[in-house]
Amino acid sequence: MKKLSVIGIGAGDPDYLTIQAVKALNRVDVFFLMDKGPAKQTLLDLRREICQRYIVDRTYRFVEAYSPERQRGDVDYAASVEDLNRAKQATFERLIDDELSDGQCGGFLVWGDPSLYDSTVRILQSILDEGRCAFEFEVIAGITSVQALAAQHKVPLNSIGGSLEITTGRRLAAGQVGDSPSVVVMLDAEDAYRQVSDPDTHIYWGAYVGTPDEILIAGRLGDVADDIELARKAARQANGWIMDTYLLRKP
Ligand SMILES: C[S@@+](CC[C@H](N)C(=O)[O-])C[C@H]1O[C@@H](n2cnc3c(N)ncnc32)[C@H](O)[C@@H]1O
Repeated sequence: MKKLSVIGIGAGDPDYLTIQAVKALNRVDVFFLMDKGPAKQTLLDLRREICQRYIVDRTYRFVEAYSPERQRGDVDYAASVEDLNRAKQATFERLIDDELSDGQCGGFLVWGDPSLYDSTVRILQSILDEGRCAFEFEVIAGITSVQALAAQHKVPLNSIGGSLEITTGRRLAAGQVGDSPSVVVMLDAEDAYRQVSDPDTHIYWGAYVGTPDEILIAGRLGDVADDIELARKAARQANGWIMDTYLLRKP
């Protein structure tokens, strides 16, 4: 039987890897690298560094695969995500069929944790449900960018006894957030924190958290929103891409 290991590698710092993840890395024969976009090279380099650092006395190889992109612009968002996942499913099936022999283990190195805004587990489950390839798979938890952000700012995510919502910049910009006192926003392409009407909301913002390029800004939204917007623009210009997350705490 072929085996797959979906390994959360943490959200930036190679020291974020858990001991369970290190053990899983040392069982993998073939790593599938699926990164895309302007950050591709940096993300690939980090994955190679992690393997070099933590794998001992074992031969392994990398297979880079073209990672399909979501259709953008004036398209139905849910439909475009579904199309993307179908294309990714075809890529995964090909990798499992062509690159793994019976008894070998394939590894997916997932940024942060595989449970949060990542489709790897969903896609593998769909392949199994459709009975197109046979394999066993395991999921190894990683440190998410949300945990890394909270640790770097030295704040708890929730207020005492309060709930926490984790959502996207798209939903925040559309006013589609619930009434949790604490909201974490990811995947924000548009400075969606600008849409928050109460300037007394506290924001804990972080870009490239856990990496040497890390930037942290915290404060009353009314006081720091301009600083964050400027820092985002400058960082995007300097690096060609940005990865940022923030916690909003309602007053
Ligand atoms: C596709 S999601 C993947 C999340 C990932 N699975 C996790 O556990 O953090 C990518 C988003 O995560 C956030 N993110 C990931 N790494 C980050 C980092 N090092 N610093 C700040 N935000 C990060 C950003 O909001 C980015 O747009």
